[in-house]
Amino acid sequence: MRIDVVTIFPEYLEPLNVSLVGKARQRGQLDVRVHDLRDWAHDKHNTVDDTPYGGGPGMVMKPEPWGEALDAVLESGEGGESDARPVLVVPTPSGVPFTQELAVELSERPWLIFTPARYEGIDRRVIDAYGERLDVREVSIGDYVLAGGEAPVLVIVEAVARLLPGVLGNAESHRDDSFAPGAMADLLEGPVYTKPPVWRDREVPEVLLSGHHGKVARWRRDEAFRRTTANRPDLIERCDPATLDKHDRKLLAELGWVERADGRFGRVAQAVEE
Ligand code: ADE
Repeated sequence: MRIDVVTIFPEYLEPLNVSLVGKARQRGQLDVRVHDLRDWAHDKHNTVDDTPYGGGPGMVMKPEPWGEALDAVLESGEGGESDARPVLVVPTPSGVPFTQELAVELSERPWLIFTPARYEGIDRRVIDAYGERLDVREVSIGDYVLAGGEAPVLVIVEAVARLLPGVLGNAESHRDDSFAPGAMADLLEGPVYTKPPVWRDREVPEVLLSGHHGKVARWRRDEAFRRTTANRPDLIERCDPATLDKHDRKLLAELGWVERADGRFGRVAQAVEE
């Protein structure tokens, strides 16, 4: 996979040289190219921003440097192995939520181009113009506002890179991830333990030492339900009841959840209110 990042803070992307992403680059599984937007700003001060039309606080990133930068990036891919329609990933708090599903979708594309913005964002015409040639995804990593899109790029690249074939040592590692598509898709992953079996008088749950795969799987599922009901009740509310067995339903009832008339689950207090 090829990844291009155009930014005014190339040094912010240094972490892409270490750990999982760094190793994937060294192995040639990932071709990451970071570009300085100011290389395409031609005035004395390499200006990349200007005041917003219509007034208001803050500055807006000018279209000309972005246009030249994106043209140069696209040209460098012509005729090459990344001669496929790239995805333009635009990090913005106004984007669609970044999810595991979107990470999987992006991991299946050969070429991603990221345009992390500073200030109030990029002149809209840039996104509109390149939207005619590229698949644009405006993506938010959460309901909070950061100072720029570079940290979201690090987040998105790491989530995508670990899904690429051969990047994680153990291909099974992402099967049980929270939010991974599959049997436990709607549940958060439960707690994990390693040696020693007793640490500061705290024992590892006995079932994990039993070697009984069926019991371990059930325990993990129960813990996933406990954690999900506590931390993400919205996931339980959305959960497809057809994926729940008798044991799950009993546990949910113990945790204060009941099946409502529409088949979905709700907390007892809520169900009574309705
Ligand atoms: N830029 C600033 N805040 C952001 C967020 N939450 N997600 C993506 N890009 C952003």
